[in-house]
Amino acid sequence: MTSNIAHFNGELAPLDRISISPLDRGFIFGDGVYEVIPVYEGAMLRGREHFERLQRSMDEIRLANPHSVDEWLAITQQLLAHHPGNQSVYIQVTRGAPPKRDHVMPKDLKPTVFMMVQPLASPPREAIENGVACITHEDFRWTKCHIKSTSLLGNVLARQLSADVGATETILLRDGLVTEASSSNVFVVKDAVVAAPPQDNLILLGITYDLVTRLAAEGAVRLEIRPITEAELRSADEVWLTSSTKEVLAVTTLDGKPVGSGKPGPVFRRMHALYQEHKARLRKSRPVTA
Ligand code: PDD
Repeated sequence: MTSNIAHFNGELAPLDRISISPLDRGFIFGDGVYEVIPVYEGAMLRGREHFERLQRSMDEIRLANPHSVDEWLAITQQLLAHHPGNQSVYIQVTRGAPPKRDHVMPKDLKPTVFMMVQPLASPPREAIENGVACITHEDFRWTKCHIKSTSLLGNVLARQLSADVGATETILLRDGLVTEASSSNVFVVKDAVVAAPPQDNLILLGITYDLVTRLAAEGAVRLEIRPITEAELRSADEVWLTSSTKEVLAVTTLDGKPVGSGKPGPVFRRMHALYQEHKARLRKSRPVTA
């Protein structure tokens, strides 16, 4: 079996040969940020936008970025040379490994950079054709959800609630408003108008969310960005999840009840087609990043 080549602090190495200090602040405090980039036949989908968001996350946690966006793109390409086909690249940067545990951020510490590649598990045909089940829960996470932090315990606990009942996601509600799901963004559709929650500190501004809003504009799909109430979620004609790995998926049952007709709706089918066309254009026109 060929080894899975990963990146660790500037070097390529087999994943199972990489070891990290137990004092690393990523391990001790979850003091780090990350990205997940989908790659189709060697072409990153919105690679630049992912590394720009990594920069914003690092700015928010006061961590100096060891690389420019262009350097990150080049490093990712080097790694992808070892991984042909459809992949997802995981990038994690932590505040590094200080000599002792202390909450205060140490000065002049070298960040730890880790990147690995895993086969991209795009949604199966069955999920696209029939949609997926979700549950809802109160959003018990912190109020800096716009940072793509590796401190994901809140998201993990939320996701497990849906996993426990065989559902695909947990859609979160804060003060009666939809925020997002445990690892995806949420859209609702009513009377052919799509709505997405505002891009504030209570959600991660998904790169897929952003792409979907652009594809809606290009494809003459009406879309509003505004607060979405729990009542709107429960009476929506369609509910969608978006993420780099889920792409766009229709939610067809919510807390065990059908969403709209109980089948993926026409606006979903249109957006799904626009998304697939975008992926196909990416492969044809821009071999590395778009
Ligand atoms: N999750 N919201 C949360 C909380 C997320 O974790 C994610 C992505 C998204 C969608 O973001 P994007 O469209 O940029 O993938 C929204 C990734 C895929 C993960 O943690 O694996």
